[in-house]
Amino acid sequence: MTQKYDWEAAISTRGAAMAWSPWAGRDLPPPPVPPIQLTGGIPDPGSLPTDELIACNERVLRREGTFALMYGGPQGYSGLREWLAKDINRREALDTGPKNFVLTCGSAGGLENICEAFLDPGDVALIERPSFPGSVRTIMSCLPELVGVPVDDDGIDVDALERAIERVRAEGKRAKLLYTISNFHNPAAATLSLERRKRIVEVCRAHDILIIQDDAYGRIGFDETAPPSLYALAGGSGALLLGTFSKTLATGLRIGWVMGEEPVVSAITRMRFDMGVSPWTSRVIAEFCESGGFDAHVERVIEIYRRKRDAMLAALDERCPKFVRWSVPKGGFFLWLELSEGIDPQRLAETANEEAVQFVGGKPFFDDGSGGHFARLCYSNVAEADIPEAVMRFGRALERAVA
Ligand SMILES: Cc1ncc(COP(=O)(O)O)c(C=O)c1O
Repeated sequence: MTQKYDWEAAISTRGAAMAWSPWAGRDLPPPPVPPIQLTGGIPDPGSLPTDELIACNERVLRREGTFALMYGGPQGYSGLREWLAKDINRREALDTGPKNFVLTCGSAGGLENICEAFLDPGDVALIERPSFPGSVRTIMSCLPELVGVPVDDDGIDVDALERAIERVRAEGKRAKLLYTISNFHNPAAATLSLERRKRIVEVCRAHDILIIQDDAYGRIGFDETAPPSLYALAGGSGALLLGTFSKTLATGLRIGWVMGEEPVVSAITRMRFDMGVSPWTSRVIAEFCESGGFDAHVERVIEIYRRKRDAMLAALDERCPKFVRWSVPKGGFFLWLELSEGIDPQRLAETANEEAVQFVGGKPFFDDGSGGHFARLCYSNVAEADIPEAVMRFGRALERAVA
């Protein structure tokens, strides 16, 4: 046997559609000194509650190890779903119960489960432009037609959304779902205003469009709580909320959830084939949450991120106002910069590399290949003490990238 198996020829239509990578074309020479990274949207490494999780793990395994180490079913550990329901009921005056939740492999897995259950090839999926490329890829994997709607400082532009829906209708098609990151957007750092939320709920109801609100950053608000969820405003009808412990606790847990009316939860549990998420991890998190650890932790990390955001804003004010425009994020992990006309984005990628500071250029966040004149700086993962130096390097890179 000399002939090698042809993996490329064997790949499925959906697999082939995933050949696109948002991170393609970012191969630059190694920077001269170790770079300061303002890239990955992950929690502050020093904030990870390792000791608390070790203690919770020990208690869980000693008390209920047999259950923690067995299959747990497609909907996920009821104790954690109960806590999630209590938590959102308290914050949003809702009346959800564990029946309204399904635990998923992060919010990424939740979105995949929703798309598998509700999206057919050729359906129209409305997404924000910009959006989180990981989610766009997940939606793309179901082979829909993507229609992008612009986002400004107040979130998705609802007039543009209505026009997009009308255009889709005029082509004899129907928009099936809207995916929106309404709180502390990744990457746009925007929070959708209450007035726009109400309009979105009305518009989507009028056109029978399923709303998927991805709330990955919703708990990390600096000044005031975020406006009510689209789920709350819609009374649950036609709206889903995606949540995760990735940004508040740790990305490695891989536990998120979908919250929705019972038929949605039922559809997802029927349509998932991964045997559910880890009962062990879910029980450890539930132990952490039930003991009050989660709320205390979130309070602590909000202060960390607020300080980092303020340090980055101060440094930008000092070093970069000539070259970029930004708005102040009310929460989350990111600053979203619009480059002034004079900056050459390609050159900026090179000069920032030479100055040893890494950021993410705007392009990967736009499904239509636009967005080169934006940049995302992440403050969550960089040491607070390194922020002034990082922004000084970024400022030098901007100066050198003037066309
Ligand atoms: C908006 C958004 N949604 C979902 C995710 C994925 O999160 P998870 O780890 O819960 O799958 C991310 C991660 O960066 C994100 O920014």
